[in-house]
Amino acid sequence: MTYSTAELIEYVDRLPRFRLAHLPTPLEFLPRFSEALGGPRVWIKRDDCTGLAMGGNKTRHNEFIVADALQQGADTVVWGAGVQSNNCRQTAAACAKAGLACHLVLARGDPPVESDEVQGNLLLDHLVGATVEIVDVDVGLGVQQKIAEAADRLRAAGKCVYQNKKAAVKPLAALSYVLCATELVEQTAAADFSPAAAYICSAGSTGAGLTLGLAALGHPFPVRHFTPIVWPWNTREDMTSIANAGAERLGVATRLTPEDIDVSEEFVGAGYGIPSAECLEAISLLARTEGILLDPSYSGKGMAALIDHVRGGRFSSEENVVFVHTGGTPALFAYRDELVEALT
Ligand SMILES: Cc1ncc(COP(=O)(O)O)c(C=O)c1O
Repeated sequence: MTYSTAELIEYVDRLPRFRLAHLPTPLEFLPRFSEALGGPRVWIKRDDCTGLAMGGNKTRHNEFIVADALQQGADTVVWGAGVQSNNCRQTAAACAKAGLACHLVLARGDPPVESDEVQGNLLLDHLVGATVEIVDVDVGLGVQQKIAEAADRLRAAGKCVYQNKKAAVKPLAALSYVLCATELVEQTAAADFSPAAAYICSAGSTGAGLTLGLAALGHPFPVRHFTPIVWPWNTREDMTSIANAGAERLGVATRLTPEDIDVSEEFVGAGYGIPSAECLEAISLLARTEGILLDPSYSGKGMAALIDHVRGGRFSSEENVVFVHTGGTPALFAYRDELVEALT
């Protein structure tokens, strides 16, 4: 069974939602970038322009997560990830807007690759009023454990805590990208083309939701995910279960199998948060041809994959390719040294 965009939007509109994002985000053609690559026509979906505290994909996610927190009567959100987490910056900003306290547990990583200089996302975390705790663990299971401990401490102190419990929040976040799929299908139709493929940096809810949305709409075009991290779990299976839990919550009949998720770890480079040479080149090329800023941990790596595939001759000049820009630009300021070195 497939759905029209209007039908799918109707399903999403039945869910509790706290409006945060400027939607729909624009879909823009990149004439000078396309010409520089000499391949297909490249378009960009501007999810870096979702509007809250410098935007990004998590602002879409938070419309459903914050609504859930408010519905549960929470007064405090405990969240966490890496020191330069865009997720945490956008969650802290969403909490500020919703009148919720936000406590962030931020990991230096293992091995530690991120400094804790108050810059980029970390500066903005403080600016929007989050309390911040920096811990020496990895950004996967290690930080999850520390988040749980912080939530227990705050509960013991009498707070009503909404916690970042993966199984509960990831499917909610994915639903926001079902909506993004409807936007993409409507915007590409209005621009009179059907993409040969969409490219995105994702290893979680964003890609799970986008793939679910496109499947529910009858697979109008494929989406290729490039991960920013090698998780200690099976990413394809994880994204499938996020998508299917989201589909159940939404009430649609669509279900995915792991084969439906096209995900690759090929462009992670040396590790999470370490910009590869291809990533730095992608950041520089898009900035210098279009004035659009990518980030060093996520969108730069996703765009490096698109550039590699275009240069490898996968598309003809008549075809159209869409890059979904998931944001992350505040992190640029925390990578000054790497960027200066790459540009000089
Ligand atoms: C800029 C950016 N792009 C992509 C992602 C990946 O999102 P997801 O975990 O939903 O796949 C993140 C996650 O933090 C991000 O900050």
